[in-house]
Amino acid sequence: GAVQAEFMGAPLEIDIKKDTYRLTIHYKTSNKAQALQWLEPQQTAGKIHPFLFTQSQPILARSWIPSQDSPGIRITYKAKVKVPSQLMAVMSANNPTERNSEGIYEFEMKQRIPVYLMALSVGDLAFKPVGKRTGVYTEPSMLDASAYELEGMEAMLDAAENLYGSYRWGRYDVIVLPPSFPYGGMENPRLTFLTPTFLAGDRSLVTLIAHELAHSWSGNLVTNATWDDFWLNEGVTTYIELRIMEELYGKAEVEMQEVINFQNLEQTVSGLDTKDTHLKLAMEGRDPDLAINPIAYNKGALFLSVIEKTVGREKFDVFLKGYFRKFSFRTITTKKFYEYLKVNLLDKNEGSAAKIQADKWIFGDGIPANVFKTTSERYNTAITAAKKWTDGTPAASLGIDSKAWKYQQWIYFLRAIPKDLTQAQMADWDKSFKLTQATDNEILGEWLKVVAHNKYQAAYPAVEAFLLSVGRTKYIRPIYAILAQDAETKPMAMRIYQRARHNYHPISARILDGILGI
Ligand code: BES
Ligand code: ZN
Repeated sequence: GAVQAEFMGAPLEIDIKKDTYRLTIHYKTSNKAQALQWLEPQQTAGKIHPFLFTQSQPILARSWIPSQDSPGIRITYKAKVKVPSQLMAVMSANNPTERNSEGIYEFEMKQRIPVYLMALSVGDLAFKPVGKRTGVYTEPSMLDASAYELEGMEAMLDAAENLYGSYRWGRYDVIVLPPSFPYGGMENPRLTFLTPTFLAGDRSLVTLIAHELAHSWSGNLVTNATWDDFWLNEGVTTYIELRIMEELYGKAEVEMQEVINFQNLEQTVSGLDTKDTHLKLAMEGRDPDLAINPIAYNKGALFLSVIEKTVGREKFDVFLKGYFRKFSFRTITTKKFYEYLKVNLLDKNEGSAAKIQADKWIFGDGIPANVFKTTSERYNTAITAAKKWTDGTPAASLGIDSKAWKYQQWIYFLRAIPKDLTQAQMADWDKSFKLTQATDNEILGEWLKVVAHNKYQAAYPAVEAFLLSVGRTKYIRPIYAILAQDAETKPMAMRIYQRARHNYHPISARILDGILGI
């Protein structure tokens, strides 16, 4: 095949005749396939059986299945999978709920999907229903904790259906994977793949479920035609995620999230080339992994919020519902979306086009001036506490009811205090609130960035333990990046990475190799 970028793999070219209508490819996938992580028993919760899982998005389906691996092309599939009889196999398809003695499982996905949604997981799995159409797969020792965390899943599904029309995929189950899963979640149809790091014990991190569930409409039903249009998957999904959360938990909860999303967006914008801050990207010849950042997610969601607030929520809900119906099981380009938006909403609402300025959002730099910037009263205590503490009030005297603080409030606080802190300040804070021992990974992840930046040695064992046990790139990449950019802490990063690397999914390892210069 033609020479091309390594991340794209090698083309398989097959000459066909005029009357060729069927093609059989016999192939073996290699243990180096980037989509696959083969786990030793030691890397699982049970420690007895091995485990396998895939991650195909964005362009790794091709590493385990010869396929036309573009999101603009859809397939149906059948699969027959044979595994050791102590293990169970599940896919993005109809799934078994029990092990069978031969270890042979048959799957069918009858609805057309892009191949980045092909997914397989094999392990010592058990299943527990959560609601009528919802349930969870995971290793037996994690089953009860997972089912507890996911108790609200069926209600989320109902809420999403009320907003955007019926759920088209039959069941909605999830699988809670071992901690090396490189993402928070992956919206594989009928079976969302999840990191176990969302198991906080108090259901506080379930916005992740709202997000992956939302993809059942935006992404899986109506799919971005190319990775240039990634915001049509992730931005629309982030918007829906927030709407589902608002239905179930109220506006105040969502406002906190929106403020953090905005901070993440601003930080991203300041670090990117301006052309990479457009919703419509230009990814030709570039690694589509570069598109996975808050531009698609948060700028995308903010754009939809501007439309919603301009034409009114009622009209916008009708519009989105119609959009999902019209483009079901199809792909959509940004251009087509824009045309559909014009005809079905902007033209029908006089003056809205001028207020929304869709061109600026889609083809323009950074964050357009007509953005609605959310504030949250729930942050008032965090703001006051940060100010008082910075001015010298010891942590213990701030009057913070740490049990009552949500993880967003901790994140907000940790971003509101000065970046550079003394060892005494770090110790004061940590003694009062025990953040180094936080069991909520959102809090711990944010705290360990502060620890790394300020070289707070008392918490180094926690940094090491976290990097050795967690593979979710969102958490570990920033910590490695901070450690690697300082000559004093770089050796520690290298030492930990040498021990941790074999635990990471090839996707995480590739990213971290880059950060550590390996
Ligand atoms: N589909 C994405 C994950 C993804 C995107 C993997 C592109 C590979 C390439 C998934 O829905 C996602 O956005 N996950 C987020 C969830 C978060 C925004 C709630 C994650 O993993 O952190
Ligand atoms: Zn997503």
